Amino acid sequence: MNQSRVNQSPTLEIGSGDDVRVLLVDDEPLVLEGLRRSVHREFVADLASGAEEGLAKLRRDGPYPVVVSDMRMPGMDGAEFLAEVRTVSPDSIRVMLTGHSDMEIAVRAVNEGQIFRFLIKPVTPEAFLATLRECVAQYHAARLEKGQLKIAIDALEQLDLGTLTALARAIDAKSAWTAGHSERVTNLALKMGHAMGLPAKSLELMHRGALLHDIGKIGTPPAILDKVGRLDPEEMRIMREHVKIGVRILEPIPCFREALPMVAQHHEWFDGSGYPAGLAGENISLPARIIAVADCYDALVSDRPYRKGLPKRQALEMMRQNSGTQFDPMIIEVFMLLARAAQLA
Ligand SMILES: [Fe+2]
Repeated sequence: MNQSRVNQSPTLEIGSGDDVRVLLVDDEPLVLEGLRRSVHREFVADLASGAEEGLAKLRRDGPYPVVVSDMRMPGMDGAEFLAEVRTVSPDSIRVMLTGHSDMEIAVRAVNEGQIFRFLIKPVTPEAFLATLRECVAQYHAARLEKGQLKIAIDALEQLDLGTLTALARAIDAKSAWTAGHSERVTNLALKMGHAMGLPAKSLELMHRGALLHDIGKIGTPPAILDKVGRLDPEEMRIMREHVKIGVRILEPIPCFREALPMVAQHHEWFDGSGYPAGLAGENISLPARIIAVADCYDALVSDRPYRKGLPKRQALEMMRQNSGTQFDPMIIEVFMLLARAAQLA
């Protein structure tokens, strides 16, 4: 492969999921309208001008994945309101809008588990959108973890790439050691796919599949994810289950059907000695072979509980040594070209 074929990072169309509803409560109509406008492309925001109206909406139209409330409101204030929301709708992720002067109350509310996050006013549209994505992701991650799979799965279909990214972050955040892993793997896999000249449709599909390639880790016990030291054979068996759990989560969702092989096959080896099915060569789907390279490289250069991340040069050498056994040589060739073009960061 000629180096001139290695392109810059892809820009991908971000789809919109317009069915995720959130409840916004503030006594200032202009603030409410501004917040609603800043997220309307991705979320349907129901508005309430005070705590009473908010609770009535919650009882009548809930559950809402996310409830956002201003702190200072006449009558019941934001802290009291969100405490009440917790009782009425325990799964809703609660966010408080606050001024500098109420920081102390907000910090206490976070520490006591009353709210998931607070935002200091004025909030930029970008920060508000990013927060809502994280909250919706948190909501789905919690439901997946609790085993409320059916409900969460229906919702997954509605999510756009922004929220899927946030969901990937929530999954990775289960262990401090894997923070940001899925996103980095996705970026690297997309760079390789782009450099190989894959069509936009395939790249978009790979974007979704790579973000959720480890979604099954939602079912892996934290004690195993965080273990300091090597896993014993039984722990290894449980860890490996994440592939099957991931497939089980995504299988019923039509829009993930084509992305399933990436979840199912990202631990298969090119020589057939991987898991879970022992597939070899081109029987492993191309995007899964690409993700396998990105996944392993990111794991090598990242710190783990039992070792520091390897320096880039050493990690690249290990990747090269495993070309043809663990990895598809053609993909390693692309990967090395990207490394030489300093595009791996
Ligand atoms: Fe994995």
